[in-house]
Amino acid sequence: MKKKAYSEQHRKVVVVGAGSVGATYCYALAQSGLADEIVLIDRNEDLMKGQVLDLIHGQPFFPTVIIRSGSIDDYKDAQVVVITAGVAQKPGETRLQLIKKNAEIIATIAEDIARQDCKGVMLIVSNPVDILTYVALKRSGWKNTRVIGSGTVLDSARFRYLLSNYCDVDVHNVHAYILGEHGDSEFAAWSMTNVAGINIDEYCPICGKCSDWKKRRQLIEQQVRDSAYHIINYKGSTQFAVGLALVRITGAILRSEKSVLTVSTLLDGDFNIKDVCLSVPCIVSDGGIIRIIESPLSPEELTSLSRSGKILRNIIESMENDLITS
Ligand SMILES: NC(=O)c1ccc[n+]([C@@H]2O[C@H](COP(=O)([O-])OP(=O)(O)OC[C@H]3O[C@@H](n4cnc5c(N)ncnc54)[C@H](O)[C@@H]3O)[C@@H](O)[C@H]2O)c1
Repeated sequence: MKKKAYSEQHRKVVVVGAGSVGATYCYALAQSGLADEIVLIDRNEDLMKGQVLDLIHGQPFFPTVIIRSGSIDDYKDAQVVVITAGVAQKPGETRLQLIKKNAEIIATIAEDIARQDCKGVMLIVSNPVDILTYVALKRSGWKNTRVIGSGTVLDSARFRYLLSNYCDVDVHNVHAYILGEHGDSEFAAWSMTNVAGINIDEYCPICGKCSDWKKRRQLIEQQVRDSAYHIINYKGSTQFAVGLALVRITGAILRSEKSVLTVSTLLDGDFNIKDVCLSVPCIVSDGGIIRIIESPLSPEELTSLSRSGKILRNIIESMENDLITS
């Protein structure tokens, strides 16, 4: 019998982690009408129940959708499982200790999902997202196309917003990507940045707004990198834009959109990088990643991508083997 397309199936999304990001994502997903059923799981049962009740009371205002709390059994028939579970850094705790703690959490969840014989896509959001995507991939034993990280989809959105603001043009007409690590070594792929099909460097004199475009470029790139730090300083965490970025990725999967998104994926020699997950332009559709687009990056951009790869690879190598191998 021919397999039904995702769009013809009951579209079920399971969200693990009912904190700020998980709950905000559920709220945005419910409004989008993309899912028929949204199941929320959290080890904090009170939080899970509270978030579900709060969301479900919006049912008269949402497109038709089931929202409920769930358990491990729910992984079985989910098209997408989104993992936002994790713990925050404690005072005195090193970054590596935090990574190990979160890696243990993600490894357990990934193994539970694989054990339920889920046929869907695993979307990792918890940070450090590139490392945890790698852990989930290794511990689930799934094909790399089905385990993806939200990567720099959010950072690329921030980049597009900033460019649209500086260039005074609709954000939907700005095509721009942040690549590499979702973190300090990420970089703007300027060679791929265009407005109305015109490379940004050529568009700049047409626009004529900036006196020193080179300096402005650096400033914009730094602003993208610092965005999360600023928001966290102001309010403790980020939730809204990431929630929408996750809806965008989920939509590409559930509607077989073949969208180009900078999700985190395992590179296996692409861009001369091996055995590390990081963000590059990918075509995302049902079943996850259809292909990596090996864009012709500039030599500086290739160096930046390789630097991100090395940084992430060093972290993976500093983690105990049993966290990565099942
Ligand atoms: N990738 C991105 O672009 C991006 C953006 C923002 C936040 N994040 C990350 O998303 C994660 C969640 O952020 P948040 O603000 O929602 O945190 P939060 O602390 O509000 O929520 C995390 C939730 O995970 C739950 N949890 C912990 N261990 C669990 C387990 N084993 N099973 C089920 N649930 C478990 C906790 O009970 C908590 O409710 C963090 O790691 C954060 O850094 C990623």
